[in-house]
Amino acid sequence: MKPGDRMRLITLLALTMLTAPAQAEFNGEQLYARNCAACHGMDGKGGVGVPLALDDFLASVPDSYLFKTIRNGRPGRVMPAFTNLDDEQIRAIVGHIRSWGPPQPSLSGSPIKGNAGHGKLLFDKHCAACHGANGEGSPGTGVTFSRPRDLPILAPALNNPGFLKAAPDQMIKQTLMNGRKGTPMVSFLEMGLSESDINDIVSYVRSFENENGAATSIQLEAETPVLVYESSYDFATTVENVKKAAIGKNFRIIREQYLDQGMVEPGTENTGQKMVYFCNFQLINEALAIDPRVGLFMPCRVTVVEQDGVIKVMSINPKYLSPLFNNSYLNRACNEMYDIYEAILEEATL
Ligand code: HEC
Ligand code: HEC
Repeated sequence: MKPGDRMRLITLLALTMLTAPAQAEFNGEQLYARNCAACHGMDGKGGVGVPLALDDFLASVPDSYLFKTIRNGRPGRVMPAFTNLDDEQIRAIVGHIRSWGPPQPSLSGSPIKGNAGHGKLLFDKHCAACHGANGEGSPGTGVTFSRPRDLPILAPALNNPGFLKAAPDQMIKQTLMNGRKGTPMVSFLEMGLSESDINDIVSYVRSFENENGAATSIQLEAETPVLVYESSYDFATTVENVKKAAIGKNFRIIREQYLDQGMVEPGTENTGQKMVYFCNFQLINEALAIDPRVGLFMPCRVTVVEQDGVIKVMSINPKYLSPLFNNSYLNRACNEMYDIYEAILEEATL
Protein backbone atom coordinates (compact mmCIF):
# COMPACT_ATOMS: atom_id res chain seq x y z
CA MET A 1 0.00 0.00 0.00
CA LYS A 2 1.25 3.49 -0.79
CA PRO A 3 1.68 5.88 2.15
CA GLY A 4 -1.11 8.05 0.81
CA ASP A 5 -3.51 5.11 0.68
CA ARG A 6 -2.52 4.01 4.14
CA MET A 7 -3.16 7.50 5.41
CA ARG A 8 -6.59 7.58 3.80
CA LEU A 9 -7.43 4.14 5.17
CA ILE A 10 -6.51 4.94 8.74
CA THR A 11 -8.28 8.29 8.64
CA LEU A 12 -11.35 6.47 7.41
CA LEU A 13 -11.04 3.90 10.19
CA ALA A 14 -10.61 6.56 12.83
CA LEU A 15 -13.53 8.58 11.52
CA THR A 16 -15.72 5.48 11.33
CA MET A 17 -14.98 4.82 14.96
CA LEU A 18 -16.05 8.33 15.89
CA THR A 19 -19.04 8.81 13.67
CA ALA A 20 -20.38 5.45 12.52
CA PRO A 21 -24.17 5.67 12.48
CA ALA A 22 -26.08 3.23 14.66
CA GLN A 23 -26.24 -0.08 12.86
CA ALA A 24 -29.64 -1.65 12.57
CA GLU A 25 -28.52 -5.07 13.73
CA PHE A 26 -28.18 -6.85 17.00
CA ASN A 27 -25.89 -9.74 16.24
CA GLY A 28 -23.37 -9.61 19.08
CA GLU A 29 -20.69 -11.52 17.22
CA GLN A 30 -20.86 -9.23 14.19
CA LEU A 31 -21.05 -6.09 16.28
CA TYR A 32 -18.05 -7.26 18.25
CA ALA A 33 -16.13 -8.06 15.06
CA ARG A 34 -16.83 -4.64 13.65
CA ASN A 35 -16.29 -2.51 16.74
CA CYS A 36 -13.97 -4.33 19.09
CA ALA A 37 -11.93 -7.05 17.37
CA ALA A 38 -9.38 -4.62 15.92
CA CYS A 39 -8.15 -3.92 19.46
CA HIS A 40 -9.25 -6.89 21.58
CA GLY A 41 -8.78 -9.62 18.99
CA MET A 42 -11.44 -11.68 17.20
CA ASP A 43 -11.30 -14.27 19.98
CA GLY A 44 -10.88 -11.77 22.84
CA LYS A 45 -7.22 -12.64 23.40
CA GLY A 46 -6.19 -8.98 23.36
CA GLY A 47 -4.18 -6.64 21.15
CA VAL A 48 -3.99 -2.89 21.55
CA GLY A 49 -6.66 -3.65 24.17
CA VAL A 50 -6.44 -6.02 27.17
CA PRO A 51 -7.69 -9.62 26.85
CA LEU A 52 -11.41 -10.10 27.53
CA ALA A 53 -11.65 -13.88 27.14
CA LEU A 54 -10.22 -14.62 30.58
CA ASP A 55 -12.07 -16.82 33.07
CA ASP A 56 -10.94 -14.84 36.10
CA PHE A 57 -11.92 -11.57 34.45
CA LEU A 58 -15.37 -12.74 33.39
CA ALA A 59 -15.97 -14.42 36.75
CA SER A 60 -15.33 -11.14 38.58
CA VAL A 61 -17.26 -8.57 36.54
CA PRO A 62 -21.02 -8.07 36.31
CA ASP A 63 -22.61 -7.47 32.92
CA SER A 64 -23.26 -3.87 34.00
CA TYR A 65 -19.47 -3.38 34.17
CA LEU A 66 -19.08 -4.56 30.57
CA PHE A 67 -22.04 -2.45 29.49
CA LYS A 68 -20.79 0.76 31.13
CA THR A 69 -17.23 0.22 29.92
CA ILE A 70 -18.47 -0.03 26.34
CA ARG A 71 -20.85 2.93 26.70
CA ASN A 72 -18.42 5.32 28.47
CA GLY A 73 -15.04 4.02 27.33
CA ARG A 74 -11.86 5.01 29.16
CA PRO A 75 -11.13 8.67 28.42
CA GLY A 76 -7.49 9.17 27.49
CA ARG A 77 -6.75 5.40 27.56
CA VAL A 78 -7.44 4.40 23.95
CA MET A 79 -10.67 2.47 24.77
CA PRO A 80 -13.36 4.51 22.95
CA ALA A 81 -16.82 5.42 24.25
CA PHE A 82 -19.32 3.73 21.95
CA THR A 83 -21.96 6.44 21.87
CA ASN A 84 -23.00 5.28 18.39
CA LEU A 85 -24.35 1.91 19.60
CA ASP A 86 -27.79 1.69 21.18
CA ASP A 87 -28.46 -0.19 24.42
CA GLU A 88 -29.67 -3.32 22.66
CA GLN A 89 -26.56 -3.51 20.52
CA ILE A 90 -24.30 -3.12 23.54
CA ARG A 91 -26.23 -5.87 25.33
CA ALA A 92 -25.70 -8.11 22.29
CA ILE A 93 -21.95 -7.49 22.46
CA VAL A 94 -21.94 -8.22 26.20
CA GLY A 95 -23.73 -11.48 25.43
CA HIS A 96 -21.05 -12.38 22.92
CA ILE A 97 -18.23 -11.66 25.40
CA ARG A 98 -20.07 -13.77 27.99
CA SER A 99 -20.01 -16.73 25.62
CA TRP A 100 -16.24 -16.95 26.19
CA GLY A 101 -16.39 -17.76 29.90
CA PRO A 102 -18.26 -17.99 33.18
CA PRO A 103 -21.61 -16.23 33.78
CA GLN A 104 -21.64 -12.98 35.70
CA PRO A 105 -21.02 -13.25 39.44
CA SER A 106 -23.64 -12.16 41.94
CA LEU A 107 -21.74 -9.42 43.75
CA SER A 108 -23.22 -7.64 46.72
CA GLY A 109 -23.79 -4.00 45.88
CA SER A 110 -22.70 -2.71 49.27
CA PRO A 111 -19.80 -0.26 49.17
CA ILE A 112 -16.61 -1.19 51.00
CA LYS A 113 -15.56 0.97 53.90
CA GLY A 114 -11.85 0.58 54.47
CA ASN A 115 -9.05 2.83 55.66
CA ALA A 116 -7.99 4.68 52.49
CA GLY A 117 -4.91 6.16 54.21
CA HIS A 118 -3.59 2.69 55.00
CA GLY A 119 -4.71 1.60 51.54
CA LYS A 120 -2.48 4.25 49.98
CA LEU A 121 0.60 2.89 51.79
CA LEU A 122 -0.18 -0.59 50.51
CA PHE A 123 -0.90 0.72 47.02
CA ASP A 124 2.46 2.52 46.84
CA LYS A 125 4.18 -0.69 47.86
CA HIS A 126 2.25 -3.35 45.92
CA CYS A 127 0.53 -1.69 42.97
CA ALA A 128 2.20 1.54 41.87
CA ALA A 129 5.06 -0.20 40.03
CA CYS A 130 2.57 -1.51 37.47
CA HIS A 131 -0.49 0.75 37.73
CA GLY A 132 1.42 4.04 38.20
CA ALA A 133 1.98 6.21 41.28
CA ASN A 134 -1.50 7.74 40.90
CA GLY A 135 -3.18 4.78 39.25
CA GLU A 136 -2.67 6.31 35.81
CA GLY A 137 -1.79 2.94 34.22
CA SER A 138 1.19 1.79 32.15
CA PRO A 139 2.43 4.03 29.38
CA GLY A 140 1.02 1.90 26.56
CA THR A 141 -1.88 -0.55 26.61
CA GLY A 142 -2.93 -4.10 25.99
CA VAL A 143 -0.83 -7.07 24.94
CA THR A 144 0.76 -5.98 21.65
CA PHE A 145 2.50 -3.20 19.84
CA SER A 146 3.47 -0.71 22.51
CA ARG A 147 7.24 -0.69 22.87
CA PRO A 148 9.23 -0.94 25.04
CA ARG A 149 7.25 -3.31 27.24
CA ASP A 150 8.11 -4.49 30.70
CA LEU A 151 4.98 -6.65 31.09
CA PRO A 152 3.23 -9.14 28.78
CA ILE A 153 -0.01 -7.23 29.46
CA LEU A 154 0.18 -3.55 30.35
CA ALA A 155 -1.64 -2.47 33.49
CA PRO A 156 -4.90 -0.53 32.96
CA ALA A 157 -5.45 2.90 34.48
CA LEU A 158 -7.33 2.72 37.79
CA ASN A 159 -7.80 6.47 38.28
CA ASN A 160 -9.73 6.59 35.03
CA PRO A 161 -13.25 8.06 35.27
CA GLY A 162 -14.54 5.40 32.83
CA PHE A 163 -13.15 2.57 34.96
CA LEU A 164 -14.32 4.04 38.27
CA LYS A 165 -17.83 4.68 36.96
CA ALA A 166 -18.14 1.09 35.73
CA ALA A 167 -16.45 -0.87 38.52
CA PRO A 168 -18.36 -1.57 41.76
CA ASP A 169 -16.26 -1.88 44.95
CA GLN A 170 -16.95 -5.61 45.16
CA MET A 171 -15.57 -6.19 41.67
CA ILE A 172 -12.31 -4.41 42.51
CA LYS A 173 -12.13 -6.46 45.68
CA GLN A 174 -12.70 -9.74 43.79
CA THR A 175 -9.92 -8.80 41.37
CA LEU A 176 -7.49 -8.20 44.24
CA MET A 177 -8.56 -11.33 46.13
CA ASN A 178 -8.37 -13.74 43.17
CA GLY A 179 -6.09 -12.03 40.67
CA ARG A 180 -6.42 -12.92 36.99
CA LYS A 181 -4.69 -16.13 36.04
CA GLY A 182 -2.64 -15.85 32.86
CA THR A 183 -1.91 -12.14 33.46
CA PRO A 184 0.61 -10.21 35.61
CA MET A 185 -2.27 -9.37 37.98
CA VAL A 186 -1.83 -11.82 40.84
CA SER A 187 -3.99 -12.70 43.84
CA PHE A 188 -2.97 -10.43 46.70
CA LEU A 189 -4.53 -12.81 49.18
CA GLU A 190 -1.94 -15.32 47.99
CA MET A 191 0.70 -12.60 48.16
CA GLY A 192 0.06 -12.36 51.90
CA LEU A 193 -2.30 -9.39 52.25
CA SER A 194 -5.32 -9.83 54.50
CA GLU A 195 -8.92 -9.23 53.46
CA SER A 196 -8.92 -6.09 55.58
CA ASP A 197 -5.77 -4.82 53.79
CA ILE A 198 -7.57 -5.42 50.52
CA ASN A 199 -10.62 -3.47 51.71
CA ASP A 200 -8.29 -0.59 52.55
CA ILE A 201 -6.80 -0.65 49.05
CA VAL A 202 -10.27 -0.73 47.47
CA SER A 203 -11.20 2.38 49.48
CA TYR A 204 -8.04 4.08 48.31
CA VAL A 205 -8.71 3.20 44.64
CA ARG A 206 -12.26 4.52 45.09
CA SER A 207 -10.83 7.81 46.39
CA PHE A 208 -9.24 8.44 42.97
CA GLU A 209 -12.75 9.45 41.98
CA ASN A 210 -12.39 12.72 43.94
CA GLU A 211 -8.94 13.52 42.67
CA ASN A 212 -7.11 13.48 39.41
CA GLY A 213 -9.06 10.97 37.34
CA ALA A 214 -10.47 13.73 35.18
CA ALA A 215 -6.93 14.70 34.18
CA THR A 216 -6.74 11.63 31.97
CA SER A 217 -9.73 12.75 29.94
CA ILE A 218 -8.25 16.06 28.80
CA GLN A 219 -8.16 16.38 25.05
CA LEU A 220 -6.11 18.86 23.11
CA GLU A 221 -7.94 21.79 21.61
CA ALA A 222 -7.52 21.67 17.85
CA GLU A 223 -9.21 24.37 15.86
CA THR A 224 -8.58 22.87 12.44
CA PRO A 225 -7.50 19.52 11.02
CA VAL A 226 -4.93 21.21 8.78
CA LEU A 227 -2.37 23.96 9.49
CA VAL A 228 -2.14 26.45 6.62
CA TYR A 229 0.41 29.25 6.14
CA GLU A 230 0.72 31.70 3.26
CA SER A 231 4.23 32.09 1.94
CA SER A 232 5.80 35.38 0.96
CA TYR A 233 8.22 33.54 -1.37
CA ASP A 234 7.76 31.98 -4.80
CA PHE A 235 6.90 28.28 -5.15
CA ALA A 236 10.40 26.86 -5.67
CA THR A 237 11.93 28.99 -2.91
CA THR A 238 9.16 27.97 -0.50
CA VAL A 239 9.81 24.27 -1.17
CA GLU A 240 13.53 24.82 -0.49
CA ASN A 241 12.65 26.77 2.67
CA VAL A 242 10.52 23.89 3.96
CA LYS A 243 13.42 21.47 3.49
CA LYS A 244 15.90 23.81 5.17
CA ALA A 245 13.56 24.43 8.10
CA ALA A 246 12.93 20.68 8.56
CA ILE A 247 16.66 19.95 8.49
CA GLY A 248 17.15 22.75 11.02
CA LYS A 249 14.77 20.89 13.33
CA ASN A 250 16.84 17.68 13.07
CA PHE A 251 14.75 15.97 10.42
CA ARG A 252 16.05 14.10 7.41
CA ILE A 253 14.44 14.79 4.07
CA ILE A 254 13.19 11.51 2.63
CA ARG A 255 11.81 12.72 -0.68
CA GLU A 256 9.75 15.34 -2.40
CA GLN A 257 7.12 14.63 -5.01
CA TYR A 258 4.24 16.19 -6.85
CA LEU A 259 0.92 15.79 -5.09
CA ASP A 260 -0.55 13.84 -8.02
CA GLN A 261 2.61 11.89 -8.85
CA GLY A 262 1.77 8.27 -9.68
CA MET A 263 -1.88 9.15 -10.18
CA VAL A 264 -1.49 10.83 -13.60
CA GLU A 265 0.68 10.14 -16.66
CA PRO A 266 4.35 10.86 -15.90
CA GLY A 267 5.22 14.33 -17.18
CA THR A 268 1.67 15.66 -16.79
CA GLU A 269 1.77 16.25 -13.04
CA ASN A 270 0.61 19.56 -11.64
CA THR A 271 3.97 21.21 -10.90
CA GLY A 272 2.36 23.78 -8.61
CA GLN A 273 1.67 21.19 -5.87
CA LYS A 274 4.47 19.43 -4.05
CA MET A 275 4.84 17.30 -0.95
CA VAL A 276 8.01 17.16 1.11
CA TYR A 277 8.47 14.03 3.28
CA PHE A 278 10.84 14.09 6.22
CA CYS A 279 11.46 12.08 9.35
CA ASN A 280 13.38 11.88 12.58
CA PHE A 281 13.87 8.31 13.77
CA GLN A 282 14.20 9.18 17.42
CA LEU A 283 10.93 11.05 17.37
CA ILE A 284 9.20 8.26 15.48
CA ASN A 285 10.47 5.66 17.92
CA GLU A 286 9.33 7.69 20.89
CA ALA A 287 5.87 8.16 19.42
CA LEU A 288 5.61 4.48 18.38
CA ALA A 289 6.46 3.43 21.91
CA ILE A 290 3.42 5.35 23.11
CA ASP A 291 0.97 4.31 20.42
CA PRO A 292 1.71 2.14 17.37
CA ARG A 293 -1.05 3.81 15.41
CA VAL A 294 1.06 6.95 14.87
CA GLY A 295 3.13 4.85 12.46
CA LEU A 296 0.31 5.29 10.01
CA PHE A 297 0.85 9.04 9.96
CA MET A 298 4.60 8.81 9.44
CA PRO A 299 6.72 10.09 7.87
CA CYS A 300 5.96 13.74 8.42
CA ARG A 301 4.92 15.65 5.35
CA VAL A 302 4.37 19.25 4.35
CA THR A 303 2.50 20.23 1.20
CA VAL A 304 3.25 23.35 -0.82
CA VAL A 305 0.61 24.48 -3.31
CA GLU A 306 0.23 27.39 -5.67
CA GLN A 307 -3.34 28.64 -5.95
CA ASP A 308 -4.21 31.73 -8.00
CA GLY A 309 -0.73 33.11 -7.52
CA VAL A 310 -0.77 32.54 -3.76
CA ILE A 311 1.72 30.04 -2.30
CA LYS A 312 0.32 28.05 0.63
CA VAL A 313 2.14 25.64 2.92
CA MET A 314 0.12 23.00 4.76
CA SER A 315 0.47 20.11 7.17
CA ILE A 316 -1.87 18.02 9.27
CA ASN A 317 -2.55 19.46 12.71
CA PRO A 318 -1.12 16.89 15.16
CA LYS A 319 -3.43 18.15 17.90
CA TYR A 320 -6.34 17.04 15.76
CA LEU A 321 -5.26 13.43 16.28
CA SER A 322 -5.78 13.69 20.03
CA PRO A 323 -9.52 12.89 20.15
CA LEU A 324 -9.17 10.26 17.41
CA PHE A 325 -6.54 8.40 19.38
CA ASN A 326 -7.98 8.95 22.89
CA ASN A 327 -4.52 8.40 24.37
CA SER A 328 -3.42 10.92 27.00
CA TYR A 329 0.20 9.78 26.77
CA LEU A 330 0.14 10.62 23.10
CA ASN A 331 -1.07 14.16 23.75
CA ARG A 332 2.38 15.25 24.85
CA ALA A 333 3.88 13.93 21.61
CA CYS A 334 1.08 15.59 19.60
CA ASN A 335 1.78 18.89 21.34
CA GLU A 336 5.49 18.62 20.58
CA MET A 337 4.78 17.76 16.95
CA TYR A 338 2.41 20.70 16.72
CA ASP A 339 5.13 23.08 17.91
CA ILE A 340 7.62 21.59 15.45
CA TYR A 341 5.23 21.82 12.49
CA GLU A 342 4.35 25.39 13.37
CA ALA A 343 8.01 26.36 13.60
CA ILE A 344 8.80 24.75 10.23
CA LEU A 345 5.80 26.32 8.47
CA GLU A 346 6.54 29.71 9.98
CA GLU A 347 10.20 29.62 9.09
CA ALA A 348 9.48 28.48 5.55
CA THR A 349 6.93 31.19 4.83
CA LEU A 350 8.15 34.29 6.66
C1 HEC B 1 2.96 -6.95 38.00
C2 HEC B 1 2.10 -5.87 37.64
C3 HEC B 1 0.85 -5.62 38.46
C4 HEC B 1 0.78 -5.42 39.81
C5 HEC B 1 1.91 -5.41 40.83
C6 HEC B 1 -0.61 -5.15 40.10
N1 HEC B 1 -1.34 -5.20 38.96
FE1 HEC B 1 -3.33 -4.89 38.80
N2 HEC B 1 -3.28 -5.43 36.87
C7 HEC B 1 -2.15 -5.69 36.14
C8 HEC B 1 -2.52 -6.07 34.81
C9 HEC B 1 -1.57 -6.43 33.70
C10 HEC B 1 -3.93 -6.03 34.74
C11 HEC B 1 -4.80 -6.38 33.56
C12 HEC B 1 -5.10 -7.84 33.58
C13 HEC B 1 -6.01 -8.25 32.47
O1 HEC B 1 -5.54 -8.45 31.36
O2 HEC B 1 -7.21 -8.40 32.70
C14 HEC B 1 -4.37 -5.62 36.06
C15 HEC B 1 -5.70 -5.45 36.41
C16 HEC B 1 -6.13 -4.84 37.57
C17 HEC B 1 -7.47 -4.44 37.87
C18 HEC B 1 -8.64 -4.55 36.92
C19 HEC B 1 -8.65 -3.28 36.07
C20 HEC B 1 -9.49 -3.38 34.87
O3 HEC B 1 -9.50 -2.43 34.05
O4 HEC B 1 -10.15 -4.39 34.70
C21 HEC B 1 -7.47 -3.85 39.09
C22 HEC B 1 -8.66 -3.27 39.84
C23 HEC B 1 -6.13 -3.92 39.58
N3 HEC B 1 -5.33 -4.53 38.64
C24 HEC B 1 -5.70 -3.42 40.80
C25 HEC B 1 -4.44 -3.63 41.33
C26 HEC B 1 -4.05 -3.26 42.66
C27 HEC B 1 -4.91 -2.47 43.60
C28 HEC B 1 -2.77 -3.72 42.84
C29 HEC B 1 -1.96 -3.68 44.11
C30 HEC B 1 -2.53 -4.37 45.24
C31 HEC B 1 -2.35 -4.31 41.60
N4 HEC B 1 -3.38 -4.26 40.71
C32 HEC B 1 -1.09 -4.83 41.35
C33 HEC B 1 -0.86 -5.64 36.60
C34 HEC B 1 -0.49 -5.50 37.94
C1 HEC C 1 -8.93 1.44 19.80
C2 HEC C 1 -8.80 0.25 20.61
C3 HEC C 1 -10.01 -0.30 21.33
C4 HEC C 1 -11.24 -0.57 20.81
C5 HEC C 1 -11.75 -0.33 19.40
C6 HEC C 1 -12.01 -1.17 21.89
N1 HEC C 1 -11.25 -1.25 23.00
FE1 HEC C 1 -11.84 -1.99 24.81
N2 HEC C 1 -10.08 -1.43 25.64
C7 HEC C 1 -9.01 -0.90 24.94
C8 HEC C 1 -7.94 -0.65 25.87
C9 HEC C 1 -6.58 -0.07 25.52
C10 HEC C 1 -8.39 -1.03 27.15
C11 HEC C 1 -7.59 -0.93 28.46
C12 HEC C 1 -7.51 0.50 28.98
C13 HEC C 1 -6.33 0.72 29.90
O1 HEC C 1 -5.26 0.13 29.69
O2 HEC C 1 -6.44 1.56 30.82
C14 HEC C 1 -9.75 -1.52 26.97
C15 HEC C 1 -10.55 -2.02 27.99
C16 HEC C 1 -11.75 -2.66 27.80
C17 HEC C 1 -12.50 -3.33 28.83
C18 HEC C 1 -12.12 -3.45 30.28
C19 HEC C 1 -11.32 -4.73 30.45
C20 HEC C 1 -10.93 -5.03 31.85
O3 HEC C 1 -10.00 -5.81 32.06
O4 HEC C 1 -11.54 -4.47 32.77
C21 HEC C 1 -13.59 -3.88 28.23
C22 HEC C 1 -14.69 -4.70 28.89
C23 HEC C 1 -13.54 -3.52 26.83
N3 HEC C 1 -12.41 -2.77 26.60
C24 HEC C 1 -14.47 -3.92 25.89
C25 HEC C 1 -14.49 -3.44 24.57
C26 HEC C 1 -15.55 -3.72 23.64
C27 HEC C 1 -16.73 -4.63 23.92
C28 HEC C 1 -15.26 -3.03 22.50
C29 HEC C 1 -16.12 -2.90 21.26
C30 HEC C 1 -17.48 -2.44 21.47
C31 HEC C 1 -13.98 -2.37 22.70
N4 HEC C 1 -13.57 -2.64 23.97
C32 HEC C 1 -13.31 -1.62 21.75
C33 HEC C 1 -8.96 -0.64 23.59
C34 HEC C 1 -10.02 -0.72 22.72
